[in-house]
This record gives sequence, C-alpha cells and structure tokens, in this order.
Amino acid sequence: MTGEEAEMSGKQIWQAGLYDEKLGYVAEYGKGVVELLSPKPGERILDLGCGTGDLTQEISKSGAEVLGMDLAEPMIHQARNKYPHLNFRVGNAEHFELESPVDAVFSNAALHWMKDGRSAASSVWNALKPGGRFVAEFGGKGNVAAIVQSLGTILEQDYGIDAGSLNPWYFPSLGEYSVLLEELGFRIAYAAHFDRPTKLGAGEDGLIHWLNGFAAGPFLAGFEEAEKGHVLQKVAKLAKTELFRDGEWYADYVRLRIVAVKQQ
Ligand code: BEZ
Repeated sequence: MTGEEAEMSGKQIWQAGLYDEKLGYVAEYGKGVVELLSPKPGERILDLGCGTGDLTQEISKSGAEVLGMDLAEPMIHQARNKYPHLNFRVGNAEHFELESPVDAVFSNAALHWMKDGRSAASSVWNALKPGGRFVAEFGGKGNVAAIVQSLGTILEQDYGIDAGSLNPWYFPSLGEYSVLLEELGFRIAYAAHFDRPTKLGAGEDGLIHWLNGFAAGPFLAGFEEAEKGHVLQKVAKLAKTELFRDGEWYADYVRLRIVAVKQQ
C-alpha cells in the first residue's frame, strides 16, 4: 500500500480503491438519505464524511452547491479525481469551521467514526444557518453487534486481547442522540432507529472485504500482516451462522436516521 492509497486516521486505514471497488453499497444505500435531504437548486450544502464523493455528486445533481469534507486525504484525493467539477476538502468532523454558514449539513455512514458525537454535532450546529437542517444516517445502538461480538470472542479467546478497548465506533441510541441534539438547540423533525441487514456482495468473500475495509485497522493493528488474514478467517467462521445465507453475507446494520433543524 502506498501513502497515496492509504492513511492512518486513528487506527483506521482508509483505502480509497478498496472503498470504491468492494464497498460500493455504502453510497448506494445513501441515496435514500439524499432523498430525505431533498436538496434544492442554489442551496449551499456540506457533505460531512463524503468518502470518495459519490453522494456529493448525487446531491449536486439537484443544482445545490455542495462541499464534500472528509478526514482521510486518500478519499479526498480520489473524490477530486472522480468529480473535478466539485469542491472537496480535508477536515475533521469533530472540529471544523466553515467560512460562511450553509443551508444543510448532510452525512451518510460517517458519524459512527466520530467517538466524540457531541463535538461533531456542535461543529454541525456552528456550520448551519438559523433554520438550517442536519440530515444524517449512521450506525445506531446495536449496529454490527454480531460482527463486533465475533471479533471480541476471537481476540479474547485466542489472543487474550480486550477488543472493547479497541472499538473505534460510536453507535448511540435514538434517545441518547436526540437528547444530545436537543441540548445543542436543535429541533428533531424526524428520527428513526431501524434494522437494515446489508448484503455485502462478493459471495463467500463479502465479510472478509468488510473486515479488511473497516475493522482490520482498528482491531488488528498489533498483528503481523500475515497473521491478520488468519484472524479474519476465524472471525468470519464464527459469524457465519448468524450472517451468511443463500451464498451471501448480510451485515447486521442498525441505522439511526435524523432530520434536525437549527432553531432560529
Ligand atoms: C456502518 O456503516 O454501519 C459501519 C461501517 C463501518 C464500520 C462500522 C459500521
């Protein structure tokens, strides 16, 4: 892996090529969140945690002016290559400031990487105009519980590692996240917490691709490269009864969807 292809952010390693080639369902599912955003011509919108920019592009089709922001430089690099007519920048969702406020902040499948949910929501608040909307989907309480449990069991039983301390994700309950937003001054216009089993594609290899893309960095940072593959195979074997059916893997996604309005 070259420096251009990957970057350590915390311990997560973002590989833009793998993300686009093997994890393309992330943006596909996000199209429903763009519908919820309902962008209008002339609106200024921030796509927070834009990855390689597919949904930034989707939002821009409405005629809105969109800025895509992501912490991972390789993702922004790839986004700029794919969509040179759009604006992208590297920025940290937990601590960012915009030059001028926007009509809406959109975020798909990104906020669960921000352990400090309050700081991220507070930055969103500061970025919005009064009356502006925050439209987001990310992992809620119970998200990928079977995957996390299988990782935990293998790491603990076979290697004596406490996986809990390595877990990089923030999966709040609907109540917890709504309170957080209300404390900042948002009005919750819509909120839902629902199961969305997500087909990982690639048949037998689906979960291994997912684990390589999202979990190997944070959970297996201490392992030799050669050993990582063995660990992931063991995790997949353990998770198989629960998550594999009819030749495909289904991740046990549980989503939080929120529309919150910055009170005037
Ligand atoms: C998710 O989209 O729910 C997710 C993706 C990567 C890691 C954890 C959760």
